[in-house]
Amino acid sequence: MTTPNKSKSAAKTRNERRKAQYRKQLQVALPAQSSKLSYGCDIPNVALEKLTGKLIVLEGADGSGRSTQIRELVDWLEGNGHATVQVGLKRSTLVSEELERAQEGNILSQTTMSLFYATDFADQLENMIIPSLKAGFIVIADRYIYTLMARDLVRGMNPIWVKNLYSIALVPDAVFYLNVSPEHLIQRNLAKTQSLDYWESGMDLGFTRDMFDSFLKYQQLIRKEFLQMKKTYKFHVINGDRPTEEVYEELRTAIDKVISG
Ligand SMILES: Nc1ncnc2c1ncn2[C@@H]1O[C@H](COP(=O)(O)OP(=O)(O)OP(=O)(O)O)[C@@H](O)[C@H]1O
Ligand SMILES: [Mg+2]
Repeated sequence: MTTPNKSKSAAKTRNERRKAQYRKQLQVALPAQSSKLSYGCDIPNVALEKLTGKLIVLEGADGSGRSTQIRELVDWLEGNGHATVQVGLKRSTLVSEELERAQEGNILSQTTMSLFYATDFADQLENMIIPSLKAGFIVIADRYIYTLMARDLVRGMNPIWVKNLYSIALVPDAVFYLNVSPEHLIQRNLAKTQSLDYWESGMDLGFTRDMFDSFLKYQQLIRKEFLQMKKTYKFHVINGDRPTEEVYEELRTAIDKVISG
């Protein structure tokens, strides 16, 4: 026969055990800390270790196939249960319309235009990229600071000034550069829109009045800048002259590795 004292203490032990089990069930597994970095500046009020999502950048010239690839990649990622968010140039709610208008008028100096683009980038960084990474999303950037830097550099801006301007940017988890020959770019742009873009042809630089010649020359210069940045910023250079499916397979395999760590 158990004494009242003994049965009381057994009930207490059972209670403690139940409580401990309940506490264990309540525990939520926290995501592992991230090792994100910025290119130099601290980003105010941002704990980089909490940015557990992945930032994947696709770079490449106009018509290099970025949108085509991003569509496929987003389908694949979301089909596998990953939440995705897309960002890109001239997509901020803050200044994208003003930037578009400024380009139509061609009235801004090179410095003001650079700062305008940097503002567009900073707004997306603060309001889209960082919150999405914090929530564990995969952020796909259709171009990033590298295009902006390359454009500034071929227009003769001071490289140190340019580098400092974008030191607020986060270092992506991977950067893919779709390397496409200017001749292929012309064919693809003409097939897509039957025209070439004034800015993407570098017409503001006044090389020549012929847009085709200007496009070829400008794209060669931009490509040179990209290939020079390749080592510093650890680009994966992808041969974008190949058929869409081949490019996609290479990207998908590489991104799979990035996501699985
Ligand atoms: N690997 C490829 N081979 C042949 N054509 C392609 C390839 N990738 C894309 N294209 C075609 O080239 C055109 C431009 O592609 P897309 O719109 O994806 O490029 P983009 O880099 O997003 O261009 P933009 O800078 O205008 O946004 C489209 O008509 C597309 O179907
Ligand atoms: Mg596109």
